Amino acid sequence: MEIVICKTKEEASRKAADLIAALVKADPKCVLGLATGSTPVEMYKCLIADNKAKKISFKTVKTWNLDEYWGLAGTHDQSYRYFMDKNLFDSIDINKKNTHVLNGLAKDWRKEVKAYEAAIEKAGGIDLQVLGIGSDGHIAFNEPGSALTSRTRIVSLTPQTIKDNARFFKKAADVPRQALSMGVGSIMEARRIVLLAFGENKAEAVKGMVEGGISQFCTASVLQLHDDAWIFCDEAAAKKLKLKKYYAWRAEEALKAEFA
Ligand code: GLP
Repeated sequence: MEIVICKTKEEASRKAADLIAALVKADPKCVLGLATGSTPVEMYKCLIADNKAKKISFKTVKTWNLDEYWGLAGTHDQSYRYFMDKNLFDSIDINKKNTHVLNGLAKDWRKEVKAYEAAIEKAGGIDLQVLGIGSDGHIAFNEPGSALTSRTRIVSLTPQTIKDNARFFKKAADVPRQALSMGVGSIMEARRIVLLAFGENKAEAVKGMVEGGISQFCTASVLQLHDDAWIFCDEAAAKKLKLKKYYAWRAEEALKAEFA
Protein backbone atom coordinates (compact mmCIF):
# COMPACT_ATOMS: atom_id res chain seq x y z
CA MET A 1 0.00 0.00 0.00
CA GLU A 2 1.39 3.41 -0.94
CA ILE A 3 -0.10 6.31 1.01
CA VAL A 4 0.24 9.65 -0.73
CA ILE A 5 -0.57 12.47 1.67
CA CYS A 6 -1.13 15.86 0.05
CA LYS A 7 -1.82 19.31 1.48
CA THR A 8 -5.09 19.65 -0.41
CA LYS A 9 -7.63 17.42 -2.09
CA GLU A 10 -6.92 19.26 -5.35
CA GLU A 11 -3.26 18.21 -5.22
CA ALA A 12 -4.17 14.62 -4.29
CA SER A 13 -6.76 14.45 -7.07
CA ARG A 14 -4.26 15.68 -9.65
CA LYS A 15 -1.71 13.08 -8.58
CA ALA A 16 -4.28 10.28 -8.70
CA ALA A 17 -5.44 11.50 -12.12
CA ASP A 18 -1.82 11.34 -13.30
CA LEU A 19 -1.71 7.60 -12.54
CA ILE A 20 -4.91 7.04 -14.50
CA ALA A 21 -3.80 9.28 -17.39
CA ALA A 22 -0.51 7.38 -17.61
CA LEU A 23 -2.39 4.09 -17.87
CA VAL A 24 -4.81 5.40 -20.51
CA LYS A 25 -1.85 6.70 -22.54
CA ALA A 26 0.12 3.48 -22.25
CA ASP A 27 -2.90 1.26 -22.91
CA PRO A 28 -5.71 3.08 -24.76
CA LYS A 29 -7.84 -0.07 -24.51
CA CYS A 30 -7.54 -0.34 -20.75
CA VAL A 31 -10.40 -1.25 -18.44
CA LEU A 32 -11.18 1.19 -15.63
CA GLY A 33 -13.27 0.54 -12.56
CA LEU A 34 -14.95 3.77 -11.48
CA ALA A 35 -16.49 5.13 -8.30
CA THR A 36 -19.09 7.72 -7.37
CA GLY A 37 -19.54 9.96 -4.32
CA SER A 38 -18.24 13.49 -3.83
CA THR A 39 -14.63 12.36 -3.38
CA PRO A 40 -13.60 11.46 -6.97
CA VAL A 41 -15.31 14.50 -8.57
CA GLU A 42 -12.17 16.66 -8.51
CA MET A 43 -10.11 13.83 -10.01
CA TYR A 44 -12.67 13.40 -12.78
CA LYS A 45 -12.34 17.14 -13.49
CA CYS A 46 -8.59 16.62 -13.96
CA LEU A 47 -9.23 13.76 -16.41
CA ILE A 48 -11.76 15.90 -18.31
CA ALA A 49 -9.15 18.67 -18.55
CA ASP A 50 -6.53 16.21 -19.83
CA ASN A 51 -8.99 14.92 -22.41
CA LYS A 52 -9.93 18.44 -23.55
CA ALA A 53 -6.24 19.31 -23.81
CA LYS A 54 -5.89 16.19 -26.00
CA LYS A 55 -3.32 14.68 -23.65
CA ILE A 56 -5.42 11.51 -23.36
CA SER A 57 -8.31 9.93 -25.21
CA PHE A 58 -10.98 7.61 -23.78
CA LYS A 59 -12.28 6.51 -27.20
CA THR A 60 -11.33 2.87 -26.66
CA VAL A 61 -11.37 2.76 -22.86
CA LYS A 62 -13.98 0.55 -21.17
CA THR A 63 -15.39 1.27 -17.73
CA TRP A 64 -17.35 -0.61 -15.08
CA ASN A 65 -18.74 1.16 -12.03
CA LEU A 66 -18.72 -0.17 -8.51
CA ASP A 67 -22.34 0.08 -7.53
CA GLU A 68 -25.86 1.41 -8.06
CA TYR A 69 -28.80 2.13 -5.81
CA TRP A 70 -31.38 -0.62 -6.00
CA GLY A 71 -34.69 0.76 -7.21
CA LEU A 72 -33.36 3.85 -9.00
CA ALA A 73 -33.48 4.18 -12.78
CA GLY A 74 -30.34 5.42 -14.50
CA THR A 75 -32.25 8.61 -15.36
CA HIS A 76 -32.88 9.41 -11.66
CA ASP A 77 -30.70 12.37 -10.69
CA GLN A 78 -29.33 10.48 -7.67
CA SER A 79 -28.55 7.29 -9.54
CA TYR A 80 -24.91 6.48 -10.01
CA ARG A 81 -25.38 6.14 -13.80
CA TYR A 82 -26.65 9.74 -13.87
CA PHE A 83 -23.75 10.82 -11.65
CA MET A 84 -21.19 9.26 -13.98
CA ASP A 85 -22.74 10.80 -17.07
CA LYS A 86 -22.82 14.26 -15.52
CA ASN A 87 -19.44 14.17 -13.76
CA LEU A 88 -17.37 12.39 -16.38
CA PHE A 89 -18.79 10.56 -19.38
CA ASP A 90 -20.68 13.51 -20.95
CA SER A 91 -17.51 15.60 -20.88
CA ILE A 92 -14.98 13.16 -22.38
CA ASP A 93 -14.66 11.38 -25.71
CA ILE A 94 -15.65 7.97 -24.34
CA ASN A 95 -18.06 5.75 -26.25
CA LYS A 96 -21.06 5.47 -23.90
CA LYS A 97 -21.52 1.88 -25.03
CA ASN A 98 -18.22 1.11 -23.32
CA THR A 99 -19.42 2.46 -19.97
CA HIS A 100 -21.19 0.06 -17.62
CA VAL A 101 -23.17 0.71 -14.45
CA LEU A 102 -25.26 -1.93 -12.70
CA ASN A 103 -28.98 -1.65 -13.48
CA GLY A 104 -30.82 -0.63 -10.31
CA LEU A 105 -34.10 -1.66 -11.91
CA ALA A 106 -33.04 -5.09 -13.15
CA LYS A 107 -35.89 -7.61 -13.07
CA ASP A 108 -33.65 -10.25 -11.56
CA TRP A 109 -30.68 -8.92 -9.59
CA ARG A 110 -28.98 -12.33 -9.58
CA LYS A 111 -28.89 -12.39 -13.37
CA GLU A 112 -27.77 -8.76 -13.47
CA VAL A 113 -24.77 -9.25 -11.17
CA LYS A 114 -23.75 -12.49 -12.83
CA ALA A 115 -23.79 -10.88 -16.28
CA TYR A 116 -21.88 -7.85 -14.92
CA GLU A 117 -19.07 -9.98 -13.51
CA ALA A 118 -18.97 -12.11 -16.65
CA ALA A 119 -18.65 -8.99 -18.84
CA ILE A 120 -15.73 -7.71 -16.73
CA GLU A 121 -14.02 -11.06 -17.05
CA LYS A 122 -14.59 -11.12 -20.80
CA ALA A 123 -12.98 -7.68 -21.05
CA GLY A 124 -9.87 -9.08 -19.36
CA GLY A 125 -10.55 -7.81 -15.85
CA ILE A 126 -10.13 -4.34 -14.38
CA ASP A 127 -6.73 -2.73 -14.86
CA LEU A 128 -7.30 0.10 -12.40
CA GLN A 129 -10.11 0.47 -9.88
CA VAL A 130 -10.94 3.89 -8.42
CA LEU A 131 -12.38 3.84 -4.89
CA GLY A 132 -13.66 6.24 -2.28
CA ILE A 133 -14.23 5.21 1.32
CA GLY A 134 -17.30 5.47 3.52
CA SER A 135 -16.97 7.01 6.98
CA ASP A 136 -17.35 3.47 8.38
CA GLY A 137 -14.53 2.16 6.20
CA HIS A 138 -16.66 0.63 3.45
CA ILE A 139 -15.60 0.38 -0.19
CA ALA A 140 -18.29 0.41 -2.89
CA PHE A 141 -21.30 -0.53 -0.71
CA ASN A 142 -19.50 -3.29 1.20
CA GLU A 143 -20.75 -2.34 4.61
CA PRO A 144 -19.26 -3.63 7.89
CA GLY A 145 -19.86 -7.37 8.04
CA SER A 146 -19.42 -7.94 4.29
CA ALA A 147 -17.37 -11.05 3.61
CA LEU A 148 -13.91 -10.17 2.37
CA THR A 149 -14.45 -12.73 -0.41
CA SER A 150 -17.86 -11.32 -1.41
CA ARG A 151 -18.88 -10.99 -5.06
CA THR A 152 -21.20 -8.53 -6.79
CA ARG A 153 -24.62 -8.79 -5.11
CA ILE A 154 -27.48 -6.96 -3.49
CA VAL A 155 -26.59 -5.30 -0.16
CA SER A 156 -28.41 -3.39 2.56
CA LEU A 157 -27.01 -0.01 3.56
CA THR A 158 -26.25 0.80 7.19
CA PRO A 159 -28.07 3.65 8.94
CA GLN A 160 -24.71 5.51 8.94
CA THR A 161 -24.35 5.29 5.15
CA ILE A 162 -27.97 6.32 4.66
CA LYS A 163 -27.31 9.32 6.92
CA ASP A 164 -24.05 10.18 5.10
CA ASN A 165 -25.69 9.98 1.67
CA ALA A 166 -28.89 11.77 2.69
CA ARG A 167 -27.20 15.07 1.79
CA PHE A 168 -27.69 14.27 -1.88
CA PHE A 169 -31.41 13.54 -1.52
CA LYS A 170 -34.32 15.79 -0.50
CA LYS A 171 -34.74 13.81 2.72
CA ALA A 172 -33.15 10.76 4.39
CA ALA A 173 -36.30 8.72 3.71
CA ASP A 174 -35.62 9.06 -0.03
CA VAL A 175 -32.24 7.27 0.20
CA PRO A 176 -32.69 3.71 -1.11
CA ARG A 177 -32.11 1.08 1.57
CA GLN A 178 -30.39 -1.34 -0.78
CA ALA A 179 -27.89 -1.30 -3.60
CA LEU A 180 -26.19 -3.58 -6.07
CA SER A 181 -22.49 -3.55 -5.32
CA MET A 182 -19.32 -5.19 -6.49
CA GLY A 183 -18.03 -7.39 -3.71
CA VAL A 184 -14.82 -7.01 -1.77
CA GLY A 185 -13.45 -10.11 -3.52
CA SER A 186 -14.43 -8.70 -6.93
CA ILE A 187 -12.69 -5.38 -6.18
CA MET A 188 -9.53 -7.14 -5.02
CA GLU A 189 -9.16 -8.68 -8.49
CA ALA A 190 -8.38 -5.28 -10.04
CA ARG A 191 -4.71 -5.12 -10.99
CA ARG A 192 -4.26 -1.67 -9.46
CA ILE A 193 -6.32 0.20 -6.87
CA VAL A 194 -6.48 3.99 -6.48
CA LEU A 195 -8.43 5.03 -3.38
CA LEU A 196 -9.16 8.65 -2.54
CA ALA A 197 -10.06 9.99 0.91
CA PHE A 198 -10.55 13.61 1.88
CA GLY A 199 -11.60 15.48 5.00
CA GLU A 200 -11.57 14.89 8.70
CA ASN A 201 -14.70 12.73 8.70
CA LYS A 202 -12.69 10.08 6.83
CA ALA A 203 -9.75 10.11 9.30
CA GLU A 204 -11.04 7.22 11.41
CA ALA A 205 -11.84 5.11 8.34
CA VAL A 206 -8.39 5.82 6.85
CA LYS A 207 -6.73 4.80 10.12
CA GLY A 208 -8.70 1.53 10.14
CA MET A 209 -7.89 0.86 6.50
CA VAL A 210 -4.14 1.52 6.76
CA GLU A 211 -3.16 0.68 10.31
CA GLY A 212 -6.03 -1.42 11.66
CA GLY A 213 -6.33 -5.19 11.54
CA ILE A 214 -7.78 -6.71 8.39
CA SER A 215 -11.44 -7.06 9.17
CA GLN A 216 -14.82 -7.35 7.53
CA PHE A 217 -15.86 -4.52 9.85
CA CYS A 218 -13.69 -2.09 7.88
CA THR A 219 -13.83 -3.59 4.41
CA ALA A 220 -11.22 -1.15 3.05
CA SER A 221 -8.67 -2.81 5.37
CA VAL A 222 -8.48 -5.74 2.94
CA LEU A 223 -6.50 -3.45 0.63
CA GLN A 224 -3.52 -4.12 2.91
CA LEU A 225 -3.39 -7.46 1.08
CA HIS A 226 -3.41 -5.91 -2.40
CA ASP A 227 0.03 -5.64 -3.95
CA ASP A 228 -0.65 -2.46 -5.96
CA ALA A 229 -2.95 -0.23 -3.91
CA TRP A 230 -2.47 3.55 -3.82
CA ILE A 231 -4.19 5.73 -1.25
CA PHE A 232 -4.37 9.44 -2.06
CA CYS A 233 -5.53 11.58 0.83
CA ASP A 234 -5.37 15.09 2.16
CA GLU A 235 -3.83 15.96 5.53
CA ALA A 236 -7.19 15.99 7.29
CA ALA A 237 -8.00 12.42 6.25
CA ALA A 238 -4.47 11.28 7.16
CA LYS A 239 -4.60 12.99 10.56
CA LYS A 240 -4.86 9.84 12.67
CA LEU A 241 -2.12 7.81 10.95
CA LYS A 242 0.84 6.92 13.17
CA LEU A 243 3.47 6.47 10.45
CA LYS A 244 2.50 9.52 8.41
CA LYS A 245 6.05 10.79 7.85
CA TYR A 246 7.31 7.40 6.72
CA TYR A 247 4.43 6.97 4.28
CA ALA A 248 5.13 10.41 2.83
CA TRP A 249 8.73 9.81 1.87
CA ARG A 250 8.08 6.25 0.78
CA ALA A 251 5.28 7.43 -1.52
CA GLU A 252 7.51 10.13 -2.93
CA GLU A 253 9.99 7.45 -3.98
CA ALA A 254 7.22 5.24 -5.37
CA LEU A 255 5.78 8.10 -7.43
CA LYS A 256 9.23 8.96 -8.78
CA ALA A 257 9.69 5.33 -9.84
CA GLU A 258 6.22 5.31 -11.39
CA PHE A 259 6.93 8.30 -13.62
CA ALA A 260 10.64 7.67 -14.25
C1 GLP B 1 -21.06 5.66 -1.11
C2 GLP B 1 -20.42 4.94 -2.29
C3 GLP B 1 -18.93 4.74 -2.08
C4 GLP B 1 -18.28 6.05 -1.67
C5 GLP B 1 -18.90 6.56 -0.39
C6 GLP B 1 -18.30 7.85 0.10
O1 GLP B 1 -21.27 4.82 -0.05
N1 GLP B 1 -21.03 3.69 -2.53
O2 GLP B 1 -18.35 4.23 -3.27
O3 GLP B 1 -16.90 5.86 -1.49
O4 GLP B 1 -20.30 6.78 -0.66
O5 GLP B 1 -18.86 8.96 -0.54
P1 GLP B 1 -18.23 10.40 -0.52
O6 GLP B 1 -17.10 10.38 -1.47
O7 GLP B 1 -19.34 11.31 -0.99
O8 GLP B 1 -17.80 10.69 0.87
